[in-house]
Amino acid sequence: MPGGHPTSTVSGMSQQPTLSGAGLILRAVVPADGAALIAILRTPEVARWWGDDVDDDTWPVDDDPDTVKFAIEVDGRVAGLVQYSEELDPMYRHAGIDIFLDPKLQGRGLGREAVRTLARYLFSERRHHRIVIDPAAQNHRAISTYAAVGFRTVGVLREYERNPDGTGWHDGVLMELLVSELT
Ligand SMILES: CC(C)(COP(=O)(O)OP(=O)(O)OC[C@H]1O[C@@H](n2cnc3c(N)ncnc32)[C@H](O)[C@@H]1OP(=O)(O)O)[C@@H](O)C(=O)NCCC(=O)NCCS
Repeated sequence: MPGGHPTSTVSGMSQQPTLSGAGLILRAVVPADGAALIAILRTPEVARWWGDDVDDDTWPVDDDPDTVKFAIEVDGRVAGLVQYSEELDPMYRHAGIDIFLDPKLQGRGLGREAVRTLARYLFSERRHHRIVIDPAAQNHRAISTYAAVGFRTVGVLREYERNPDGTGWHDGVLMELLVSELT
């Protein structure tokens, strides 16, 4: 597999591993991460793309049992969130990823490294062969980040996602990464 195997250790009760990338680790989110992650989520640079309508008491730990969430840690501090969900029907088995990073830390290659680190895990340990990601068509930074890891744009998803302010819909793009394409 390109990019080698992730360094991973299984943490605590959750059996969710801690994954090591260059300059960061990905570890299971815990309730104590909530305040830091909500502060990042509510920066304009992140909320513009993610929306920020979350329950302050439960997010990010308890809101969606079908999503596995990792805190991105840089220099021992919470720097963002990366998450995956899985389609486990054997005929269509694949995983999907989403991410946000503290605006103060964007543009240094950390987003790319977090996606790469999670993709390696999903390929090598979760045995997926295909990962998808669906940024807004106007989110050029996210599209560049995913392309740098090997994702290819395969189509436009018309009026795919509601605008974070609820006013209407915007296009998304479907990007795919196959196991042989990870850089
Ligand atoms: C998307 C995100 C995770 C990327 O993380 P990051 O650490 O900033 O990304 P990187 O530094 O690894 O790479 C950024 C790439 O985008 C490029 N880029 C930056 N601004 C850009 C723009 N306006 N248009 C096109 N490319 C742009 C950079 O040049 C870089 O590519 P390069 O190294 O090939 O030149 C981060 O910016 C983020 O959290 N954004 C807000 C939330 C969000 O949009 N999440 C994704 C939802 S799908």
